[in-house]
This record gives sequence, structure tokens and C-alpha cells, in this order.
Amino acid sequence: MGDVTTDAPGLPHGIHVRPLRREDIEAVVAIESEAFTTPWQASTFEGLLGRDGIELLVMIDVDDGVIGYAVLWVILDQGELANLALTTNRRGAGLGGHLLRHVLDRARERGVEKLFLEVRASNARAIDLYRNFGFEDVGIRRAYYESPKEDARVMLATFGS
Ligand SMILES: CC(C)(COP(=O)(O)OP(=O)(O)OC[C@H]1O[C@@H](n2cnc3c(N)ncnc32)[C@H](O)[C@@H]1OP(=O)(O)O)[C@@H](O)C(=O)NCCC(=O)NCCS
Repeated sequence: MGDVTTDAPGLPHGIHVRPLRREDIEAVVAIESEAFTTPWQASTFEGLLGRDGIELLVMIDVDDGVIGYAVLWVILDQGELANLALTTNRRGAGLGGHLLRHVLDRARERGVEKLFLEVRASNARAIDLYRNFGFEDVGIRRAYYESPKEDARVMLATFGS
């Protein structure tokens, strides 16, 4: 994967999405810790850097640096959106949709036909976002999450070949 900026049309001025670099990890872990009760550690992101089948993307604001990130796993024609988060003060303004669009573009480029994700059943904003991008409910994993214990909704987007 080349370390190039993917400055697709439609992104707000001063914001772009590019592959995660080692120096981004501290900021990404800070966002991860704000967003999730059992956050991944820096060592997890370091271990994923450069691995086959992993896409790590960051959303960069020219003034504020890393404001969001996403993690995509790809195995043959299936993918899993493992993580997607924005820093707290940049949520609710549509940026999650821009980041998700980049993830979906990368998934398609890598030949993914089915993209799965799990989301906390109470996470209405994320569920709305995924629905807007064509994800559909395909199942429930009971008590999948800890702290607090909660079901996961399993959602699936299917790309035409
Ligand atoms: C989930 C997340 C990435 C969404 O990004 P965002 O930029 O905040 O989302 P948006 O502003 O585009 O809102 C997404 C949709 O949810 C709707 N929405 C916003 N707030 C909502 C709320 N409190 N309840 C229900 N729906 C809501 C919006 O109306 C929007 O739908 P629309 O485009 O039809 O208007 C972001 O909020 C985040 O980082 N959350 C914490 C981490 C997280 O939960 N990640 C997902 C884990 S699976």
C-alpha cells in the first residue's frame, strides 16, 4: 500500500484521509480511548502496521492533526470494519460518513464483496451512519461487548462485482 494522500472530492476543506503512519499511533490511541471502554493499546496498532490484509486509515485536519481513524481487515473477498472513530469534538458533523466512504472505497479496491461489522446495539448514531451507507442487519451477537455488557448488531454491506 503506497503512503499517498487520498484527497477525494467532497471532503471538507483542510481535511484528508491517508494511511496511518507510526507517528499517528499516539493520537489514534487517544481517540480510541475516548470512544471505547476496552480500547486497543498502541502495541496493537504497531503490530498491525504493514500487515497484509489490514488497512489502517487516518483522517487528518490540517490544523488539528489526526481527528479520526478506521481499521479494516480483508480476507479474500470478505472484509470486517473493525474500528471507526472520530475525536469527540468532531462528531455529529458528517465526517464519519466521509471516513466511511474512504473505507468502502479501499474495501472495493481490494476486491471485498461482503463487508461485515459489529456495533453496540445502543449506538444509534453509528447504526444510522452504517444504514445510510447500505449496511443491513444480519444478526445479533448476544452479550458480545463488556463494560457495559451489551449485544452487538452484526451488519453487512454487499458490493456488486
Ligand atoms: C460513529 C461515528 C464514527 C459517526 O460519525 P459522525 O461524523 O459523528 O456521524 P454523522 O454526523 O455523520 O452522523 C451519522 C448519522 O447518525 C445520525 N445521528 C447523529 N447523532 C445521532 C444520535 N444521537 N442518535 C441517532 N442518530 C444520530 C445523523 O443524523 C447521521 O445521519 P444522517 O446523515 O441521515 O443525518 C462517530 O460519532 C464516532 O466516532 N463515535 C464514537 C465511536 C463509535 O461509536 N464508532 C463506531 C463503532 S462501531
